Amino acid sequence: MQLDSQRVDIRKRMRSLRKNLSQTEQKSAANALNINISQVIKVKKATKIGGYLSNDGEPDLSPAFENIWGQKGRTYLPIIHPFSGVHLLFQHYEKNSPMKANRYAILEPVLNCSHICPVAELDYILTPLVAFDSQGNRLGMGGGFYDRTFAQIPDDKVKKPILIGVAHQCQEVDTLPIASWDVPLDYIITPERIYCTTR
Ligand SMILES: Nc1ncnc2c1ncn2[C@@H]1O[C@H](COP(=O)(O)OP(=O)(O)OP(=O)(O)O)[C@@H](O)[C@H]1O
Ligand SMILES: [Mg+2]
Repeated sequence: MQLDSQRVDIRKRMRSLRKNLSQTEQKSAANALNINISQVIKVKKATKIGGYLSNDGEPDLSPAFENIWGQKGRTYLPIIHPFSGVHLLFQHYEKNSPMKANRYAILEPVLNCSHICPVAELDYILTPLVAFDSQGNRLGMGGGFYDRTFAQIPDDKVKKPILIGVAHQCQEVDTLPIASWDVPLDYIITPERIYCTTR
C-alpha cells in the first residue's frame, strides 16, 4: 500500500538522521529541550507528567525530569501492558525506581499496580516520535502503542492530558502521510522551536 511504504521510508530516513547526532549534539539538545519544555509545562506540586527514557537517538529527557522533580512534579514512564501487549500503562517514576528491560530492551519501571496513573488522569504526556509536521501530526516507530493508548482517553472528558511530541529539529517533514488512527499532538517541542497545534 502506498501510504505504508511512504511511512516506512520516512521512518528509515528520520531514524538514521537522529541516530547520527553526536553526543555533544544530543547533550545540547537535551538542555535546550528542558528550557522549551518548561515554557509549555507549568509544573506545580503533584503535576503529573508522562515521559520516556530515550532510545534509538531520541532526545534525552533527563534534564527535563530533574527540573520537574525540583519543582515537586510527578513523572511517569510507559510500561507495555502485560496482558494486551499493545497498550501503554503509565507508572510513577523517580530516580531510584526499580527498573527492568522490556521486549525492545527499553527500561521500564517494574510493574506495581498501586503506582499506575490512568492515562486520562495525566496532566501532560511527552512522547517520542520518529517524524512530525507543523500541523501536529506524529509518526512513531510503527507499533501503534501511543495511538492505541491515546484512543482510550474519553472524548467527552473535560480535562484531558496535553499531548506533547518531543523531537530533534531534523525530524520535521513538510507533510506526513497520516492514517485514520493517528492521534495528533497539541504541541511539538524541539530544541529550537515550540509548535502549538491545538485545534
Ligand atoms: N486505536 C487503535 N486501535 C487499534 N489498532 C490501532 C490503533 N491505533 C493504531 N493501531 C494499529 O497500530 C499499527 C501501527 O500504527 P502506526 O503506524 O500509526 O504506529 P506509530 O504511531 O508509528 O507507533 P506508536 O504509536 O507506537 O509510536 C497500525 O497498523 C494500526 O492498525
Ligand atoms: Mg500512529
